[in-house]
Amino acid sequence: MSPTTRSVLACGLLLGSAARAQWNDPQSSSSSGFSYVQPLNTTILGQYGHSPAVYPSPNATGSGGWEAGLAKAKDFVSKLTLEEKALMVTGYPGPCVGNILAVPRLNFPGLCLQDGPLAIRVADYASVFPAGVSVAASWDRDLMYKRGLAMGEEFRGKGAHIFLGPVSGPLGRSAYAGRNWEGFSPDPYLTGVAMEETINGMQKAGVQATAKHFIVNEQETQRNPSWKNGVISQEALSANLDDRTMHELYLWPFANAVRAKTAAVMCAYQRINGSYACQNSAVLNGLLKTELGFQGYVMSDWGATHAGVAAIEAGLDMDMPGGLGPYGMTWTGNGFFGPNVTAAVNNGTLDQARLDDMIVRIMTPYYALGQDTSFPSVDPSTADLNTFSPRSTWLTEFNLTGESSRDVRGNHAALIREHGAAAMVLLKNENGALPLKAPKSIAVFGNDAGEITDGFYNQKDYEYGTLSAGGGSGTGRFTYIVTPLEAIKARAAKDNALVQHWLNNTLIATTDVTTLWIPKRPEVCLVFLKTWAEEAADRTHLDVDWNGNDVVESVASACNNTIVVTHSAGINTLPWADHPNVTAIVAAHYPGQESGNSLVDVLYGDVNPSGRLPYTVALEASDYNAPPTTAINTTGVEDWQSWFDEKLEIDYRYFDAHNISVRYEFGFGLSYTTFALSDIKTAKADKYSKKKSTISAAPPAQAVQPGGNPALWETLYTVTVTVRNTGKVDGAAVPQLYVTLPVPGTPPRQLRGFDKVYLKAGKSKTVSFPLMRRDLSYWDVVSQDWLIPSGDIGLSVGFSSRDLTQFATITPLSS
Ligand SMILES: *[C@@H]1O[C@H](CO)[C@@H](O)[C@H](O)[C@H]1NC(C)=O
Ligand SMILES: *[C@@H]1O[C@H](CO)[C@@H](O)[C@H](O)[C@H]1NC(C)=O
Ligand SMILES: *[C@@H]1O[C@H](CO)[C@@H](O)[C@H](O)[C@H]1NC(C)=O
Ligand SMILES: *[C@@H]1O[C@H](CO)[C@@H](O)[C@H](O)[C@H]1NC(C)=O
Ligand SMILES: *[C@@H]1O[C@H](CO)[C@@H](O)[C@H](O)[C@H]1NC(C)=O
Ligand SMILES: *[C@@H]1O[C@H](CO)[C@@H](O)[C@H](O)[C@H]1NC(C)=O
Ligand SMILES: *[C@@H]1O[C@H](CO)[C@@H](O)[C@H](O)[C@H]1NC(C)=O
Ligand SMILES: *[C@@H]1O[C@H](CO)[C@@H](O)[C@H](O)[C@H]1NC(C)=O
Ligand SMILES: *[C@@H]1O[C@H](CO)[C@@H](O)[C@H](O)[C@H]1NC(C)=O
Ligand SMILES: *[C@@H]1O[C@H](CO)[C@@H](O)[C@H](O)[C@H]1NC(C)=O
Ligand SMILES: *[C@@H]1O[C@H](CO)[C@@H](O)[C@H](O)[C@H]1NC(C)=O
Repeated sequence: MSPTTRSVLACGLLLGSAARAQWNDPQSSSSSGFSYVQPLNTTILGQYGHSPAVYPSPNATGSGGWEAGLAKAKDFVSKLTLEEKALMVTGYPGPCVGNILAVPRLNFPGLCLQDGPLAIRVADYASVFPAGVSVAASWDRDLMYKRGLAMGEEFRGKGAHIFLGPVSGPLGRSAYAGRNWEGFSPDPYLTGVAMEETINGMQKAGVQATAKHFIVNEQETQRNPSWKNGVISQEALSANLDDRTMHELYLWPFANAVRAKTAAVMCAYQRINGSYACQNSAVLNGLLKTELGFQGYVMSDWGATHAGVAAIEAGLDMDMPGGLGPYGMTWTGNGFFGPNVTAAVNNGTLDQARLDDMIVRIMTPYYALGQDTSFPSVDPSTADLNTFSPRSTWLTEFNLTGESSRDVRGNHAALIREHGAAAMVLLKNENGALPLKAPKSIAVFGNDAGEITDGFYNQKDYEYGTLSAGGGSGTGRFTYIVTPLEAIKARAAKDNALVQHWLNNTLIATTDVTTLWIPKRPEVCLVFLKTWAEEAADRTHLDVDWNGNDVVESVASACNNTIVVTHSAGINTLPWADHPNVTAIVAAHYPGQESGNSLVDVLYGDVNPSGRLPYTVALEASDYNAPPTTAINTTGVEDWQSWFDEKLEIDYRYFDAHNISVRYEFGFGLSYTTFALSDIKTAKADKYSKKKSTISAAPPAQAVQPGGNPALWETLYTVTVTVRNTGKVDGAAVPQLYVTLPVPGTPPRQLRGFDKVYLKAGKSKTVSFPLMRRDLSYWDVVSQDWLIPSGDIGLSVGFSSRDLTQFATITPLSS
């Protein structure tokens, strides 16, 4: 097998042409892969130390409901030979993107791991769901759960045991990060809810979820080390951050994931405080397995393992895809794990008890989710579609049985259409531009409107064709896609309307469009813009792509009813937003395969838009802080350092802390109706009311459960408000609660509650926000615990982070 003939795409792994050259490097003979830690240059690391050593790796206990699964897993492990044990923790080339080999004598069929967060990527007859950024924009817990469940049904139907998602790393520290759209929102609370609901849905379907990429995987640039002549010439980027920022931003959503009992966590490519994520004992043994009480297994991102025993002792449980050499993607058939695990146990370097715990962790969720009983076989067509480890790379036979090319889509198209519409964010709507009122003449502009001309499987930034997912391992293979143009034509036909369209951005941008359309001006001009993002590359700008700004200017100069729709990975500056002829703007993000239908439902008012921005749209690109670390021009081995000096101030936390005006704030979105809030009330939990018992600053010590100290998840207060639909059409509001903590270094307001409330016109409803202990606490680095501050805690409720109308104060520590 020639490595260069293999496709380079895998979960969390997409090598560009520059990186591909590494494959041909001769293998280093000096690299044993068993050194403990990277040498640290403390001069460079400066104010940050290195990751503290946290050993040994804690054993799983099955706590939190997996006790029976754990017992079965232990029994299974007790029957394995040492060689079988080594294989249980090591990936092998096979039909899926990741494969654990079968142990036929124990009736264990092996494990099939598949990308990715918005679809089962390596599959035919499977659905492509809305991307994470769209899910976040829905602010809809029920949608998040149902999407997870539906995706889970498809993974299961295809025989995939393990879903490589959902994503909360990147969280979205930087507006430019290439994978933000795979995750949800730069707000950890919103992302935490999305993680929990997705995992609950997925695992309800009997498929294991993998929360990834752990942790602070906040940029793509230099996520992997550079190699020259078989040695590392520059280490991967090191994300250097303080302990409080780690807890309150980046670890927060992973705590929700662990609480939802995610089966797996995937460690990231880059380093944290100088130590590779997949061998950083402080984050794996410390934060994840001890503090959060994680009971599942840690798998490496594809090629993110940089050591054998050192990584194992630091908490890594499974090497994926396995068999890779010490650098790059050379498939050696053994790699850091595999036979080297056997050797390390035999010569006494690795304690067999640790190896046993790795497998117990891998097999506990397998049993706990019932995957040992009647789980479908891997769809044989998977093997034909898998470009990462095609048959020519296999080192062993796979017994592929059952129906090939199973159609697992069920009725998910209807769900995807509904979800796509529920996630669209209406940013501007003037002169009653939307909903459309049966226009008889429609003009459609932009290369994002129509059919895809060169590449159905989103692996490149093609010029012509609508964009409904980004690129890399987080994409999906569409079985069909409903384009905006196609859906508009179908809908307009009901009104016998004229639909003219121009898809060539260059042409539109450089032509007087009045010379294009038939002399009578169209009633409405719809402009479709797109913005690409992909794994392994950070975005280089925040504009829409393909000259889209000029397209808008050209159309709007001639059409006084220009409606702009963006299909985008996330943040765009929208410099034409105040143009008087731009009457409406819809941020449609990446809605999935029913894209056009979802959009038409919103444009024509069959669905009242209810999406809200899961990030901030600034006035200028230069207003954003925390850019990715790029353009390191020096060649020192340790030179790629990223300092998270902004601490808690990312996205709206930063704009609010510095009173920076924004174009559209976090949480903002319009509706075809209007809503009002009233009657904020706060109530202490019954247990603490009437002085029965007082609330302590620190959580009462309790045995750690998945998610950490259970006291952190206890509801201490319930805040209620009345939401009223004051307009003339039915629709959904998204009331949001923000907390102001009297603690230095804390952003002015932080999201700690939201709900999506559907209300008939004129109706009202009481909405409750349960405030858990964690919601009212900050991470105290001295006591290494979450503390509720003394003094008043401010509560603000409104319809966005800057449209706050209901205020209250609580003082939890006053008796
Ligand atoms: C550490 O980095 C500094 C700054 O680049 C450099 O001057 C020094 O030689 C390095 N120390 C070691 C031990 O490599
Ligand atoms: C990183 O270093 C900082 C500064 O020493 C420290 O506060 C933090 O706990 C460290 N985090 C990890 C995961 O090593
Ligand atoms: C894990 O359990 C084994 C016994 O199965 C024990 O020898 C080992 O010390 C335990 N490890 C830890 C970290 O508790
Ligand atoms: C694993 O062990 C073999 C010898 O058994 C060695 O040649 C190889 O380099 C090791 N792999 C890694 C990644 O260290
Ligand atoms: C034990 O085996 C491992 C894996 O092959 C090797 O890296 C290590 O050097 C060996 N240690 C001893 C003491 O032989
Ligand atoms: C292949 O799998 C099928 C179904 O699980 C089983 O009946 C058959 O015995 C297997 N064949 C081999 C050669 O393992
Ligand atoms: C798009 O329009 C430009 C400007 O008119 C033209 O040069 C180019 O050939 C057109 N592209 C296609 C694919 O027709
Ligand atoms: C708005 O559109 C009208 C045509 O409907 C045009 O005459 C006018 O110049 C446009 N306004 C701007 C600011 O471009
Ligand atoms: C656009 O211009 C036409 C003709 O002047 C006018 O009738 C219409 O109301 C304008 N539309 C908007 C949205 O301003
Ligand atoms: C690296 O070089 C580029 C291009 O010359 C320059 O724009 C950039 O500022 C340099 N980066 C640093 C960190 O010096
Ligand atoms: C922001 O505005 C608030 C209220 O006007 C003020 O208290 C605060 O000092 C301002 N902060 C900055 C950084 O200017």
